[in-house]
Formats: sequence, C-alpha cells, structure tokens
Amino acid sequence: MANTFGHIFRVTTFGESHCRSVGAVVDGCPPGVRLDAADIQGQLDRRRPGQSDLSTPRNEADQVAILSGVEDGRTLGTPICLKVDNRDQRPGDYSSMADIPRPSHADYTYQTKYGIRASSGGGRSSARETIGRVAAGALAEKVLRERWGVDVVAWVSAVGDIEAPPPDMVTIGRAEVDRFAVRCPDDATAREMASRIAELKDQKDSVGGVVTCVCRGVPAGWGDPVFDKLEARLAHAMLSLPATKGFEIGSGFAGTARLGSAHNDPFVQKEGRLGTRTNNSGGVQGGISNGEPIYFRVAFKPPATIGKPQPTADFDGVPVTLEAKGRHDPCVVPRAVPIVETMTAIVLLDAALMQASIASFR
Ligand SMILES: Cc1cc2nc3c(=O)[nH]c(=O)nc-3n(C[C@H](O)[C@H](O)[C@H](O)COP(=O)(O)O)c2cc1C
Repeated sequence: MANTFGHIFRVTTFGESHCRSVGAVVDGCPPGVRLDAADIQGQLDRRRPGQSDLSTPRNEADQVAILSGVEDGRTLGTPICLKVDNRDQRPGDYSSMADIPRPSHADYTYQTKYGIRASSGGGRSSARETIGRVAAGALAEKVLRERWGVDVVAWVSAVGDIEAPPPDMVTIGRAEVDRFAVRCPDDATAREMASRIAELKDQKDSVGGVVTCVCRGVPAGWGDPVFDKLEARLAHAMLSLPATKGFEIGSGFAGTARLGSAHNDPFVQKEGRLGTRTNNSGGVQGGISNGEPIYFRVAFKPPATIGKPQPTADFDGVPVTLEAKGRHDPCVVPRAVPIVETMTAIVLLDAALMQASIASFR
C-alpha cells in the first residue's frame, strides 16, 4: 500500500533512482478524457533536473511514454501506465559512500527496515520517484481544469531566511512564477534567492525553503469529515514528498496568535453563492471545501547530500568524515513547485470523484 495513493483516482508509483525506468500506474481515471504525452510533458519539464544552475546537473530529458489505458487520444477508463526512462545514471558516484549512511538521508532507515537497499542514488527515496506523481498529477490537473475549471498554482515563497512578499492569490499564474529559475514571482526576492543558492552551492552546502500553493475554482463540498478531511489529505500528500518537514493551511501557526473575533471568516453573498469575506480557513472548513481558494504552505528541508566535510559515523559506528559525492540539488524548492501542484491535483481529483459519486444520489 505504501506505493499507492488515492481512493478512486489511485496512483501507484514505481522505480528507483538508478533503475531502468520510473513512472506511475493510474487506476480510476474517468474514460473519454483527451490525453496525449504533451499534456503531461509540460509539468515533467518543469520538474526535471539540469534545467538551471540552481538544480542538480544530472541530465535527464524525462520524456514520458503512455503505455496503456489510452486509445486514439482518449482514456479508456482502464489503468494508464506512464513511463519515463532513467538515462544519466552514474552509480559509481556512490561507491565511496556504500558503508556510510548519509546524515539525514534515508540510507540508514531503508537498510534497517529491509536489510538491503538500492546501492546508489537513494533508490526509492530519491526525488526520481516523484516523476510518477508528477505525470499522474498532470493528468489529474487536466481533468480538473476541463471538467470543473479548477487551477492550481504554486511558487517559492522562501529560501532559507529570505521571504517573498505574498503575490495576489487571485491572479498569480504559472507564467509569472516561471519568469525566474528559482520560481519566486517577486523580481527582487527571486534574484536574492538565486544568489543565495549559488553561494551555498559553491560552498558545497545546501538550503531549505517554502513552497506556497493556491487552488482556485474548487466548489464547496469536496472532501470528507473526520479521518479524510481535505486538509488532512493535502497534508498527507505533501508530507509524503521527499524532504518535507511542515505543512500549514490558511492562517496556519500564525493564526494561533489571533483572537476568534479577528480570525473568523464572516459569510457574505458572492456572485450567487455564500462566500466568506476573509479566508483564514484556507478554503476548508470541517474537512470540506467551502468554495473559497484553498491555500497552504509546505516546508522543505536543506537537501541532505552535501560535499562539505561532515563528521558522522559509518554503519559500524566508526567515526568518519563524509564529503558526499554525486550530483545534488543545493535547494529543492524550485523543482518542488510542479511536484506540489501535481500532488495537490491528485488529492483534489480524488475528492471530486468521491463527491460526484455522492452527488449522483442526491
Ligand atoms: C525535487 C527534489 C530534489 C531533491 N534532490 C535531492 C538531492 O539532490 N540530494 C539529496 O540529498 N536529497 C534530495 N532530495 C531530498 C531527498 O530525496 C530526501 O531528503 C530523502 O529521501 C530523505 O527523505 P526525507 O527528507 O523525507 O526524510 C530532493 C527532494 C526533492 C523534492
């Protein structure tokens, strides 16, 4: 089960960092959706490594192939297999680290759990695994956009202690986010973030950051109460991404410092529906969308693999100094933007399909 996510729109990812292929099998996609590889490739291009000096130089084209579930450009309602080949593997980069678990990576825990682990590149814990999610999520985005007019936009809102001023959540679009390789829509902050990442890369160190995401056009009624609250599904999805350390929706932690009278979102009549004047709830109340934009923030830690010498211990507990090898991201957030968007789309489409099955009985 650990490799499958979703109730109706179910996504199973497969593959390791250095095996032949990675990808996803999607079950539960509605039939009749127009789909070709180009619909998926755009988000894979935004995720792929080597796209700028700010990311790992691993050079992968990440071209998707649709192996099943689509005929004459339309989904059949049967499982859709989406495959991307790994091409630029260099497993030799990892040989000097075979006996040393990288601090704060997954080598020690995978080895302890399974008694064996992929010999290079972090195996399943590598960000290569997210290719399957992005491919499946790009399909989910298309269904959400065409059937319900929902759009999802994420951007880099912080790198280390550099924070961007909040953009207009009603109008922000992907073109604005992609003007800078760092994927922060504010010009001055984007430049500052890029030079901080470049500086740390030169120092063989790494830095964390925050991705903020907004979902517009989600109607009231998606999501479930209790265990499957929409914010809980989103948190589950986001905290299942590699390197995530935090999730907050709406006013989040900052909301705790406010009084109820200032924090409540009063109802108002809006274009033929009941809306709210403010949106501290982040578009979700009682686990169910209320028709306002859903927005949340995801915290990503500094990537663990750094070339800077670190005192640590090998698997036998013998103290060693590790200068990690391989090609790595000095900061993951620019590449995490499409990953957050597509993972969000998987959650929303699943919720939409569940609501559609309830609505058919009302
Ligand atoms: C887009 C992206 C790129 C990443 N690149 C690297 C990397 O180059 N080096 C690294 O050590 N970790 C990288 N990570 C994070 C690791 O995959 C992750 O930290 C590791 O699997 C341990 O899991 P955890 O941090 O969730 O505990 C990346 C994560 C993402 C989302």
